[in-house]
Amino acid sequence: MTATETVADGSRYTRCIQSSKRVRWDIDEDVIRRRHFDSAQKFLPDGLSLADAFTTLSADEKRFVSQIQGRTYANIFGLVERFINAKVLELSHNHALGDQEAVEALVRFSDEELKHQELFRRVETMVGDVLPEGYRFDVDPNDVARAVLSKSTWAVLVLTLDIELFTQLHYRQSIDPDAELSELFKDVFLFHWKEECQHALLDELELVRHDAALMEAERDRAVDDFIGLVAAVDGILKAQAASDTAYFVAKCGRAVAAEEAQAIEAAFLAAYRWQYIHSGARHPYFGKVLSGLITDSQSRRIEAALATMH
Ligand SMILES: [Fe+2]
Ligand SMILES: [Fe+2]
Repeated sequence: MTATETVADGSRYTRCIQSSKRVRWDIDEDVIRRRHFDSAQKFLPDGLSLADAFTTLSADEKRFVSQIQGRTYANIFGLVERFINAKVLELSHNHALGDQEAVEALVRFSDEELKHQELFRRVETMVGDVLPEGYRFDVDPNDVARAVLSKSTWAVLVLTLDIELFTQLHYRQSIDPDAELSELFKDVFLFHWKEECQHALLDELELVRHDAALMEAERDRAVDDFIGLVAAVDGILKAQAASDTAYFVAKCGRAVAAEEAQAIEAAFLAAYRWQYIHSGARHPYFGKVLSGLITDSQSRRIEAALATMH
């Protein structure tokens, strides 16, 4: 790393600390403000829930799907933030006796992800208060974190950058412009977005720093680790699409034949793959950072793996 790069990195850590201080919010005072969810309102916007793909459903049933998907959306963020925070704490040790601004930026990042996990647990409880009983989200965040953290740091950081960039894209492109959404649901992701901007900058700084120390063969194995992590995400999405379909069918208030249930499950899975795999993979900045680190043949390996997830 050159002296100029080090100075530039230093000022980026400083800017992340400043932004983190400027946007900092409180769960109760700023986000929830004594409000409740309302089952008459839509939660996840059509651009993310892919409402049009649920071709057999009425408008009311599509709204129920947006509520189920919105609940799962909050739970998936709570899930991934467990391993993200564990990795950030680990990375902060690399700077502990060096750049103190880097340490502060990463400690704030960690503190924010702990708060976000609490916010998403609150959302799960509050949505549970207004929707019918029987929804399940059975994935254990610690089990997932243990499996993810057993992979190379490079792969975990690439996945983290991907997640933290698509989080912002979802808010700007789909959640913010949708005038029909629950104001409370919208605010949860507005405040979340505000703190995620710094996270993606820090992910990139740490990823590039870590990448620079890797041998070619190590990076090549890390590309396989990343593909394995995306496949594991896909496995979680398949299970949740099946679970959310079973819940919808049990609670939608009419009989759903097996064939229609299969179509609904396929639409849930398509929406989840769009939310957590393809919207990030197509994010222009994610593509730019990743292609700066890997070879064309590694990039083709990743694309081939993603193509199987449709
Ligand atoms: Fe977060
Ligand atoms: Fe984050």
